[in-house]
Amino acid sequence: MIRDYQVPLLEKEEVSPGIWRLSLECPSIAREAGPGNFVLLKVSGGSAPLLRRPLGVLEADAERGTFGVLFRVVGEGTELLSKTAPGQTLSVRGPVGGQFGPFQHEKVWAVAGTLGVVPLLFLRQSRGAFGRMFLGVGSAEWRPFTEWVASRAPEMELFSDDGSIGKKGFAIDGLKGQSLAEVSLAVCGPNPMMKALYGQYGALCDDIQVSLERRMGCGMGGCFGCVVDTKTGRRRVCIDGPVFQAREVKWDELHL
Ligand SMILES: Cc1cc2nc3c(=O)[nH]c(=O)nc-3n(C[C@H](O)[C@H](O)[C@H](O)COP(=O)(O)OP(=O)(O)OC[C@H]3O[C@@H](n4cnc5c(N)ncnc54)[C@H](O)[C@@H]3O)c2cc1C
Ligand code: FES
Repeated sequence: MIRDYQVPLLEKEEVSPGIWRLSLECPSIAREAGPGNFVLLKVSGGSAPLLRRPLGVLEADAERGTFGVLFRVVGEGTELLSKTAPGQTLSVRGPVGGQFGPFQHEKVWAVAGTLGVVPLLFLRQSRGAFGRMFLGVGSAEWRPFTEWVASRAPEMELFSDDGSIGKKGFAIDGLKGQSLAEVSLAVCGPNPMMKALYGQYGALCDDIQVSLERRMGCGMGGCFGCVVDTKTGRRRVCIDGPVFQAREVKWDELHL
């Protein structure tokens, strides 16, 4: 159930320059959240509700009553979040949205673009290691981040746009030449990456679950600010998603 909480920030770690992991204490979210769910976070006392930002749940520990998020500083909201300190109280709404799964196949592979790895690491925490896992980044500038991901998911196979780290190419290139008939794919990354994946592999794989990115307003289904067109009508990414079957999405009409 989506609720608002004031929660203490327990730990803060810069896993890579400009990329932060926060661990927050909130027994309800820790208990209820599943892979694919996200939370809306803002620094308490921040003036505008506009500063509530959606972040995927990275991990949860129901026994400790904690959950984690991982984010990259890209603008005002994430900059503010990166300035928080352990002990400070944050305002959190969640857990929001649906989850990955159930999967049609026993074999589940993951495809991630940079920070899209967040819900996939949570999926890995709950299901175990992936059969294959592909991560795409821009260049070797992402090295500390990729090492951090590898420390949590040693099966990760790395691609970079310029070939300066891992194999040259995109995460979706990991699927080239693979037999996908008995594989379910869990995918999260920039919308253009997921559109390209579906365009190339949609006919070869019957279970491609994608977590869509959309700017969010309320995060509770009320503002319709996050609507996407699907084959079953207009759907709100915040509560009907963010995870959709790729074949349901009208990719040509999705604002990328
Ligand atoms: C369901 C969901 C889960 C997400 N999970 C994560 C996560 O785990 N880690 C993470 O680092 N980021 C995640 N994001 C993206 C994150 O919400 C944005 O980076 C953040 O809201 C930017 O806020 P800002 O105030 O720092 O930047 P702004 O000043 O608002 O924007 C800076 C830049 O980020 C882009 N941006 C802003 N919001 C979004 C958005 N919702 N989707 C795509 N681009 C956006 C803007 O277009 C602009 O280019 C997620 C987004 C969604 C919708
Ligand atoms: S963010 Fe308001 S309806 Fe989805």
